[in-house]
Parts: sequence; C-alpha cells; structure tokens
Amino acid sequence: MPLVPTASLIAASGGVAAFNVITLEHAEAIAAGAESAGLPAILQLSENAVKFHGGRLAPIAAATAAVARLSSADLSLHLDHVVSPDLLHQAHAEGFSSVMYDASKLPYTDNVRATSEAVRWGHAHGIWVEAELGRVGGKAGETPLDAHTPGVRTDPAEAASYVASTGVDALAVAVGSSHAMTERTAVLDHALIGALRDAVPVPLVLHGSSGVPDAEIGRAVAAGMRKINIGTALNTAFTGAVRGYLAEDARGVDPRRYLARAREEMAGTVERFLRVVSGAG
Ligand code: G3H
Ligand code: ZN
Repeated sequence: MPLVPTASLIAASGGVAAFNVITLEHAEAIAAGAESAGLPAILQLSENAVKFHGGRLAPIAAATAAVARLSSADLSLHLDHVVSPDLLHQAHAEGFSSVMYDASKLPYTDNVRATSEAVRWGHAHGIWVEAELGRVGGKAGETPLDAHTPGVRTDPAEAASYVASTGVDALAVAVGSSHAMTERTAVLDHALIGALRDAVPVPLVLHGSSGVPDAEIGRAVAAGMRKINIGTALNTAFTGAVRGYLAEDARGVDPRRYLARAREEMAGTVERFLRVVSGAG
C-alpha cells in the first residue's frame, strides 16, 4: 500500500495509535499488528532513536518506510520529538508526512517563536506539524517531572493562543500521562482534556500512553484525544520476550530466535492497543 499521510489518518478516524520504531523488528511488528487488527497506525521515529542509529536518519527511515509500503494496512510515517532543525529539515526527503517539533522545554515565547518557524518550514513542504505545550515528563535525559503537578499541565487558554500564534496542526498536551512508564498506573485529568478540546481547534495528542490504563485511553479518545503515542509498551514486550527466551536457552546465540519472539510479542501489543484506541478493545 502507498503510505497514507498522517493528516488523512487522523481526519478519517476517532483516534489513531502512533508507535515508536527503534529497530527493524519494531517496524515489522507495528505493520503486523495493524494488519491483524485491520486498523490504521502511525509509525514514528524519534530524534532519540535516530541518535541511537548514529545520528543517521536515512537507513532506519528507509527500512521503516519499506516495511510500511509493503504492508496491507493503512500506515503513515511521523518524525517524533524533533528538537534539531537539521533533523526536521530531512523529514520530507525521507518520506515523513508529519513531524512533532518539540520546543516544550523552552519558555513560552521562545517555544512560540521556534515552533512557528518549524510550522512555516513544514507547511512549505506539505508536512503536518504537531507541537507540545505544557510538559509531559519522563523524556530521556531530563529530570523527572511529577505528571500530577498542576504546574506542568497544559492550560486551555494558553493552548488556544499557542495554536493561534504558531499555526500548528495538532497539539500534544500534558494531562497526567508521563513518558517511559512501565506500569499502567497514570490517572488522566478528563475534565482538563474536555476543556482543552473545547478551547483548541486542532487534534489533541496524548504522549506517554504506555503508562495509561486501557479504560483511561478509551475515555481520553472519547473526550477528543486523536493521536495516542505508545513506545515503552513495545520495549517492555520486546525485552520480556528476549529475557524469556534466553532464560530457556542460555546457550543460544542466533539472534533470529529471540528477535522473532520479541517481534511477535510487540505485534500482539500493537494489536491490543489499536483495538483500545479504536474503541473496539
Ligand atoms: O512520543 C512518544 C510517546 O510519547 C511514547 O511514550 O514510551 O511512554 O509510551 P511512552
Ligand atoms: Zn512523547
């Protein structure tokens, strides 16, 4: 199937799950999970994943795009948590239809200025741009934030003027989730999600969704969340499968054996999250 633009996937459904790719097996698992569920999905590569691949976007992007194009599912490619303008400017050439430009660590006016520039560039190249206001904690290399501290949450009035000033196509909001949680114990602020949906004219994005229970994800989508980002849950599945395999076969050396199991576990995780996000879970 040809790649589908992220904007079209989001416009066509109540909620779409976006999964982070680190290795080829992640991409294959996301495609397989989407095919089994019969649902669309977004494959996203983060700036941190690109750093893991030596700072080179092209090899992992080309592999991910090839897996997506060969799949029978509707899939899009998204570049996630981009801080570097250099990386941002490679998005179009590598087949990404959308980018999350992350200036959330900057003070408000600097965030608006940097994001507006990213949006100008993105729109000139046909790219849908997501940005973050508020602080979804737990990002690699940062001091842990308490996701339940009201100060780090997105303010609806500020969100409305941020969207108007920057021209972003979607807004990532801090509503109680946090990145890199390995237990699904996050409690979302549903009143805040409703207030943001009413205040902001663009789709809302939930980051750190691995730590959010199924029922909370379902309520968030029903209340207006449109893109649900999931990364750590795939890594938990991957690593658990590898640990399990090596515990059973401590002398095994063929990576295909444990990577096959890891890929299968990730595909099952993708399928389950897709059903929850689509409301069929
Ligand atoms: O942008 C990516 C996501 O927010 C993933 O967060 O790894 O906590 O699921 P997670
Ligand atoms: Zn995120």
